[in-house]
Amino acid sequence: MLPALADVDAEASTCTRCPLAVGRTQVVFGMGNATADLMFIGEGPGAEEDRQGLPFVGRSGQLLDRLLAEETGLTRDHCYIANIVKCRPPGNRDPRPEEIAACQPWLETQLDLVDPTVIVTLGNFSTKLLLGTTVGITRLRGHAYRFRRGVVVPTLHPAAVLRGGGTPLAQMRADLVRAKLALADPTPTATVP
Ligand code: URA
Repeated sequence: MLPALADVDAEASTCTRCPLAVGRTQVVFGMGNATADLMFIGEGPGAEEDRQGLPFVGRSGQLLDRLLAEETGLTRDHCYIANIVKCRPPGNRDPRPEEIAACQPWLETQLDLVDPTVIVTLGNFSTKLLLGTTVGITRLRGHAYRFRRGVVVPTLHPAAVLRGGGTPLAQMRADLVRAKLALADPTPTATVP
């Protein structure tokens, strides 16, 4: 029998599988609907997420919430939201390959249990990890790719959209519309280059 997501969350809360455990305030495992059709995967917790113990609750998260509502009519309660690494990298540096590898079993378990139809990967780290490629997000976004029984719809990280202005904003909006359409018809539109 599969464990319950809440039990895995409790187990992860004391994780010491990588050095990020030393600097964290708390593990940011994930949040939302444990049986969601739509899942978001970001990079790793920032300062506000580390403080609250919840993913995407800072400025990036506010943008994500707004665009999600405007482009899909959904709120985060309809979705499940997680990150590649569950503990904040110091100074918000990029997660290291060994940290990503140490944390990956937690993400795999989340994917097994939530079993979403559509996964929106936010930015380079989650997109490359799930699609198993070194190709960057600017080339990968704009399509839906086969993943498990559904699709991955890659988009830009909201932090990059906050920095980048009009064009990335329009691209992220279009990707969220793509994700909404994929919920009804999860047919891939491209293969990973
Ligand atoms: N950026 C991320 O990638 N994840 C969060 O939870 C917050 C900001």
